[in-house]
Amino acid sequence: MHTEPVDLSLLPSDFAWGVATSAYQIEGSPRADGAGESIWDRFAVQPGTILNGDSGETACDHYRRWEEDVELMAELGVGAYRFSVAWTRILPDGAGEVNRAGLTFYERLVDALRDAGIEPYVTLYHWDLPQRLEEAGGWRNRETAGAFVEYARVVSEVLGDRVTRWMTHNEPWVTAFAGHRDGVFAPGRTDFGEALAVGHHVLLSHGLAVPVIRQNVPGASVGIALDCRPAVPATRAPADVAAQRHFDGFRNRWFFDPVFGKGYPSDMMKAYRARGYLPAKSAPWLQSGDLELIAEPIDFVGINYYTSIAVRAGEEESEDTGVPHGSPAPEGYTEMGWPITPGELTRFLERVHETYEPPMILITENGASYSDGPDEAGVIADDRRIRYLERHIGAVAQAAATGVPVAGYFVWSLLDNLEWASGFSQRFGLVWVDHATQQRVPKNSFHWYRQLIGG
Ligand code: FCB
Repeated sequence: MHTEPVDLSLLPSDFAWGVATSAYQIEGSPRADGAGESIWDRFAVQPGTILNGDSGETACDHYRRWEEDVELMAELGVGAYRFSVAWTRILPDGAGEVNRAGLTFYERLVDALRDAGIEPYVTLYHWDLPQRLEEAGGWRNRETAGAFVEYARVVSEVLGDRVTRWMTHNEPWVTAFAGHRDGVFAPGRTDFGEALAVGHHVLLSHGLAVPVIRQNVPGASVGIALDCRPAVPATRAPADVAAQRHFDGFRNRWFFDPVFGKGYPSDMMKAYRARGYLPAKSAPWLQSGDLELIAEPIDFVGINYYTSIAVRAGEEESEDTGVPHGSPAPEGYTEMGWPITPGELTRFLERVHETYEPPMILITENGASYSDGPDEAGVIADDRRIRYLERHIGAVAQAAATGVPVAGYFVWSLLDNLEWASGFSQRFGLVWVDHATQQRVPKNSFHWYRQLIGG
């Protein structure tokens, strides 16, 4: 197949190459060794929440096969692995009693990674809130921020001598809006006003946890992984231009601005009041001093990037990515239905650099869903994934060339795993997983990535 050489010389020589996963999507055995129930365990067993009735009950059985998975990463030659810790394994009720066995699981994993020369990058929260905390109001309840800080303290105390790279949260927008406005992710609620409160408490917990992690971890590098959805107006019509501005505020600025000390965007505050998501004069969840806490300086920002959107009037709060840039999307779509738009990644990285000036940027997730499986000879020719990754790594290199401080890139994902509400129907892995037998088969993209980063 035709591949376009990516000019890696544009990237810093110590650039981190990695892969990423998350606990609920790969681990399975959610209640093993004393772990508590999470909102995803509860959500998944409700009919109609996850396609085909799939769940994280077994997922990729990584909880039992983690050694094999570390070996796969060693074979891949990555220097970095981003994974998340399941809060429910550490504090089964979300707060209170610590479950030592849960800590042991992650200690062993981290030790094996370090022995294999792979730097662990730990995400503390990738959407799996302890169900007990949900019953006390979940992220709608300001006290959950305090519980998160306690959890961050426990984990960083134990892993802090071996893990220096930490992320508080993965994609606060998703926690807030997919979980509390759209109801498509756990805990499945549907109230815009609630989603705003949730987003705020998540950001607050981030700001509060950063100094706690720093205190426990010598030489810590602490950040947050934000999802981004760059947007362009569908046409030059003023109504579409205004819709694009609103969408960008709703999806991007609402989270980036406060994390970087700019507070919540005032145009969005106004718009949300006008739409009745907030009372006329106040934001009930916002207390004095919160914005300063949220703006605690970070060492890096993680960017999760998959696609971008062209916004039409009336769709300024829509997640519908069905409007490509030019129709059909010039570079096609992945099987998630997401238009492939690598150029928007370069532009977004430049914008983050110019607007927010983070000391460092990591691409903490990027990847593509394609269902290509083994042919008769057992070969998985996932050329479209290779092409996608090549185009996006090239886009990151372009940003580096203009001075954006990008320092690492993580493919989503190591393994085909449980893609949330889409279940096992979407495959993002460099490694094929047979979900019936748990057999792992490296795809051609695995070999391609190994060669690319092996130099
Ligand atoms: C991101 C999530 C990750 C994965 C990818 C496809 O939003 O962080 O867990 O599901 O999308």
